[in-house]
Amino acid sequence: MTNPSLLILPGDGIGPEVMAEVRKIIDWFGAKRGIVFDVSEDLVGGAAYDLHGTPLHDDTMAKAQAADAVLLGAVGGPKYDVLDFSVKPERGLLRLRKEMDLFSNLRPAQCFDALADFSSLKKDVVAGLDIMIVRELTSGVYFGEPRGIFKEGNERVGINTQRYTESEIARVARSAFELAMRRDKKLCSMEKANVMESGILWREVVTEVGKDYPEVELSHMYADAGAMQLTRWPKQFDVIVTDNLFGDLLSDLAAMLTGSLGMLPSASLGAPMANGRPKALYEPVHGSAPDIAGQGKANPIACILSFAMALRYSFDQGEEAARLEAAIEKVLADGARTADLMGPDGGTPVSTSGMGDAILAALDASI
Ligand code: NAD
Ligand code: IPM
Ligand code: MN
Repeated sequence: MTNPSLLILPGDGIGPEVMAEVRKIIDWFGAKRGIVFDVSEDLVGGAAYDLHGTPLHDDTMAKAQAADAVLLGAVGGPKYDVLDFSVKPERGLLRLRKEMDLFSNLRPAQCFDALADFSSLKKDVVAGLDIMIVRELTSGVYFGEPRGIFKEGNERVGINTQRYTESEIARVARSAFELAMRRDKKLCSMEKANVMESGILWREVVTEVGKDYPEVELSHMYADAGAMQLTRWPKQFDVIVTDNLFGDLLSDLAAMLTGSLGMLPSASLGAPMANGRPKALYEPVHGSAPDIAGQGKANPIACILSFAMALRYSFDQGEEAARLEAAIEKVLADGARTADLMGPDGGTPVSTSGMGDAILAALDASI
């Protein structure tokens, strides 16, 4: 039997730094747990542009389509700000999401006990928090037509279009209901049905899909009120489903409930492939962090947790994913702190690789 394939795209800025730590973890699972992947690596974002003049080469796109899962670091950086929009690093990531049809983006926000004091919110608001934001990822205003900057009379107009079909809403809603069934059976859908027709349709279709999930308690919230409720009392939520743009904003907001953007993983899932596994790309929620790139300061945990999500959602290794998550929890409880986590408790400062090594040691201790 061949090993499952994993395509690694480290990308730009801190992407390669955090991915180097994930590589150590992958090697550990191969050596110590017999979970061996056929790993290959390629370029995306600015790194791909520098070599090929495009943020995603067609060969890389083909490799991503063929892989059992893709793991991505981060793309972008100030060096590329001057580039034409069509070849900006971010376009490479958006092409991957669109062409792989990764419509359901799972962004969990979990507050580890050791970090409950690190949020900008009060400890009792975030302690024990475990919510899941499901962000629609392949449609909405990110991709709707018409779009562009046009001349209108003697001035320019910038246009983007929020567009959702019923089937696009239904499939992401279904994925969120399925998740809710495996969690606390509560789903909150967020849109702005008070001002947007796409929001009205969103609410109608989610309600319709909900009839297939009578056990799930469905609620609806306007996304602006949802942002307020997420900061007021986030533990009222279990699963949240929302569109592409609202999901982008709300998941960064949720990151701060956990203490650091450097803690948030994500899974972008599509329809099942022939082998029954979903098409999948795993990546941290954070970006390339140009302000700290190259300094060994980046927190690799978001990227390592993204690999844990890959173990769980692509490779049926839920127990090993839990082992990895527990190792991270232990390391944090023992006080290891990358720069973004230097907070109220002092802790022990560690570099990016120091954090990776501590997690490896905790993994060793777990077997
Ligand atoms: P960012 O997420 O890169 O950084 C925001 C802040 O969080 C910075 O202060 C950064 O130092 C800190 N931070 C982020 N990740 C961290 C980590 N792992 N450890 C410690 N600190 C961390 O967002 P930005 O500055 O708005 O964007 C920078 C570039 O990244 C832009 O080009 C943007 O388009 C791109 N971006 C890419 C992705 C992605 O690849 N998925 C996501 C978001 C932003
Ligand atoms: C994210 C990022 C991306 C997005 C960018 C880099 C294209 O912010 O993954 O959250 O807006 O979706
Ligand atoms: Mn974002």
